[in-house]
Amino acid sequence: MLIHRSRWLIVLFMIIVFSGCSTDVTSTSTPFSETVIPMRELADPINFYVGTSVRYRPFVDEPMYTQMIAEHYNLIMPENMMKLDALYPDPDTFTPERADAILAFAEENDIAVRGGPIIWHNALPEWILDNNMDRDSMLIFMETYINTVVEHFQGRVYAWDVVNEAISPSGSGLRTDSIWMQTLGEEYIAIAFQLAHEADPDALLFYSEGGTHFERAKAESIYQLVRGLVEDGVPLDGISLHLHVDAHNGFDAEFLYDEMQRYADLGLLIEITEMDVRISRLSGSMEERLNIQAGIYQDALDVCLQITACTTFATWGFTDQHSWIDARFGEDDPLPFDSNYQPKPAYYALVQSLQTANQNQNR
Ligand code: G3I
Repeated sequence: MLIHRSRWLIVLFMIIVFSGCSTDVTSTSTPFSETVIPMRELADPINFYVGTSVRYRPFVDEPMYTQMIAEHYNLIMPENMMKLDALYPDPDTFTPERADAILAFAEENDIAVRGGPIIWHNALPEWILDNNMDRDSMLIFMETYINTVVEHFQGRVYAWDVVNEAISPSGSGLRTDSIWMQTLGEEYIAIAFQLAHEADPDALLFYSEGGTHFERAKAESIYQLVRGLVEDGVPLDGISLHLHVDAHNGFDAEFLYDEMQRYADLGLLIEITEMDVRISRLSGSMEERLNIQAGIYQDALDVCLQITACTTFATWGFTDQHSWIDARFGEDDPLPFDSNYQPKPAYYALVQSLQTANQNQNR
């Protein structure tokens, strides 16, 4: 069997844990505090990144937020502060200060940083949407933008998501609702990678995309795009996968394994960079839903740990208090720590997989 599941162990573990604990995720008690192991202590020895995205407001306002990140993670990604709208409020003003603050925190705490997304159809400042740039002007801006950003963070960011979410949600090829596509045509992708590579030849460059875990048509379009880039000699080191899972739809770990393996076969690195698991559409008690969520997180991490080219497992946020999910889909509890920063079954599931990988020395 491709996917090693020690599910019975986690179920047993949870029965023991939950027999003495509340499952109320809004509880302010700290039922698990004595057994919490910093995840990075399990990731470092197997040369693996366990990461989270970082939001700026809680980063500044909530000491517990930064304390938890420093304790558990050896990788972070600014959630929004390296996007074009955050870095270029107008065409001539580069504002990296908030991203710089996050990077300084990472350096103080020996945490690696992924940067980006550099080129995305979303998170654009108004001025670029209003400007109606022609092809030449857009190329000039793109070169200045990529050079400035990549050189500014050079040596502090080990990997960039250079192009993000270029495939249409339906999976029918490249999305057309992108200012980059509309102005430059499909070659914008190769141009962006080339510019990023010239700006920092040492940085790892990733194509970043969602949907590989369940949307078959989209997964195929993504693969065809990426394989084409590799065949064309575009400087691409890997693919970063967004696993925004709705547990109600189930989770096909074997499909994910096969998808990852075919990117590994292209000689690419693979990083899971945006995982969260919605549970609000599941039926059952909260305890049951949290256990299903834990199983999905564990399956995804186990797949990654089984593929040597998969170096990173990162969630999109870590606490239910600060997730993009609520604003987009309604109230949910998608992350491994609850709104009070207490570990959930998902956290224990991730720890268990990391412990198993340490015991097996399989990395
Ligand atoms: O900080 C302001 C706040 O002051 C204001 O009151 C509030 C009102 O709308 O907006 C807040 O900013 C929002 C920010 O998230 C922080 O919550 C922005 O409007 C909102 O556009 C922004 O959304 C982000 C989105 O990307 C667009 O940049 C999400 O946080 C972020 O999680 C999401 O991340 C993307 C990845 O980059 C790519 N993959 C998909 C993923 C989810 O959409």
